Amino acid sequence: MKTIGLSSDHAGYELKEFVKQILDQKGIPYKDYGAQSADSSDYPDFAHPLALAVENGDVAEGIAVCGTGNGIAITLNKHAGIRAALSWDAEIAALARAHNNANILVMPGRFISKEEATKTVDAFLNTPFEGGRHQRRIDKIPI
Ligand code: RB5
Repeated sequence: MKTIGLSSDHAGYELKEFVKQILDQKGIPYKDYGAQSADSSDYPDFAHPLALAVENGDVAEGIAVCGTGNGIAITLNKHAGIRAALSWDAEIAALARAHNNANILVMPGRFISKEEATKTVDAFLNTPFEGGRHQRRIDKIPI
């Protein structure tokens, strides 16, 4: 079974810990790249290790959380091998997989309920990439 990498800052810590419960219930293994508490921290310190782990295959995919999702998504997407998709509901997460072949799900910890986050994680884990015209578009992303 594929291993999921997890990352957050302080503002995403609580939801990241909740995501662990979701993954535990599904029997999905994960590695936690921090933060390790809700004490104030800087999201790049935890985003870069997760991005590198996805790029080098230490984990298959990632789930990352900060307050809005934007800071951690911006940082993750600096890495050439990362397609991190900010998603605040299940439909957006499903489309991020189906159309963008996202390899990291990003959620806004301060703006999503645990119920919606559970559905969003489910959609990310269970939606396949459609390929075809979407692969052509992804091939044009690198600069
Ligand atoms: C932390 O206060 C907050 O700025 C951070 O979690 C994130 O939302 C930044 O984009």
